[in-house]
Amino acid sequence: MPEADQGKQEKQYHTDIPVEKHGFFLKGASSLDWGMKNRLSRIFRPDTGKTVMFAIDHGYFQGPTTGLERIDLNIVPLMQYSDAIMLTRGILRTTVPPTLTKAVVMRSSGGPSILKELSDEEIAVDIDDAIRMNVAAITLQVFIGGEYETRSIRNMAKLVDWGYRYGIPVMAVTAVGKNMVRDAKYFRLACRICAELGAQIVKTYYVPEDFDTVVASCPVPIVMAGGKKIPELDALTMSYNAIREGAAGVDMGRNIFQSDAPVAMMKAVNRIVHENMTPEEAYDYFNSIKAEG
Ligand code: R5P
Repeated sequence: MPEADQGKQEKQYHTDIPVEKHGFFLKGASSLDWGMKNRLSRIFRPDTGKTVMFAIDHGYFQGPTTGLERIDLNIVPLMQYSDAIMLTRGILRTTVPPTLTKAVVMRSSGGPSILKELSDEEIAVDIDDAIRMNVAAITLQVFIGGEYETRSIRNMAKLVDWGYRYGIPVMAVTAVGKNMVRDAKYFRLACRICAELGAQIVKTYYVPEDFDTVVASCPVPIVMAGGKKIPELDALTMSYNAIREGAAGVDMGRNIFQSDAPVAMMKAVNRIVHENMTPEEAYDYFNSIKAEG
């Protein structure tokens, strides 16, 4: 067993050299089977290589989160502006019309509520049911450094094995414990472990310093997690920076549905992700849509 990495030489991430994609538009995906590539192409737009994913799965551990009290009223109408929706099977079956053709990224882990130790998760959706719901990907939290780290890795490995069997990609979400440092060093560790152990997509948080090294050292696409609600211009700037530093899209929840103009925010995020609009331009655009009501 090698000791913890303490090499004397500085690490070389070569953030200026794009990774070879070997004929498929997403990194790390060229050797996957047709079904998996097709599902990835439903999540990530093949023309831009990116995704605007809409995260509304918060209820699986925190109940009716602010903004998600009535998903039928506030949230379903927003789905049309996203490329993919990340949610639980309970909300999909009870509340989302089956006529919606957006890619479904299915929350497949669960267990503890906010009242307990969050890393104590189990797999919460069987692969047969994921297939029945025609999902584009299955997703779970991975708690690197958390109390139940090994269990969450075991959960992920199980989903990856199922996913390979049926052509369904796995998106690993790097979950950070309350008292853990959120920096590039931690996210490089967490994202790389998820990709090494088979996840085809990794969702992780943006960090202002060296996010490009997190992306460069992860051999699969990174999707930026949104996080708690911040002012719209800040959220747009964070999205812009993440994309510029190599993220293959964003997966946002509260910064969309807790905005006082969610449709405008969704549209502005789209223009950053798919059209490389600057944060200032996107914020002007946000305000113009908001003004239209
Ligand atoms: C992450 O812990 C979960 O997937 C969340 O429920 C969700 O994705 C968080 O989205 P946001 O932080 O953008 O509100």
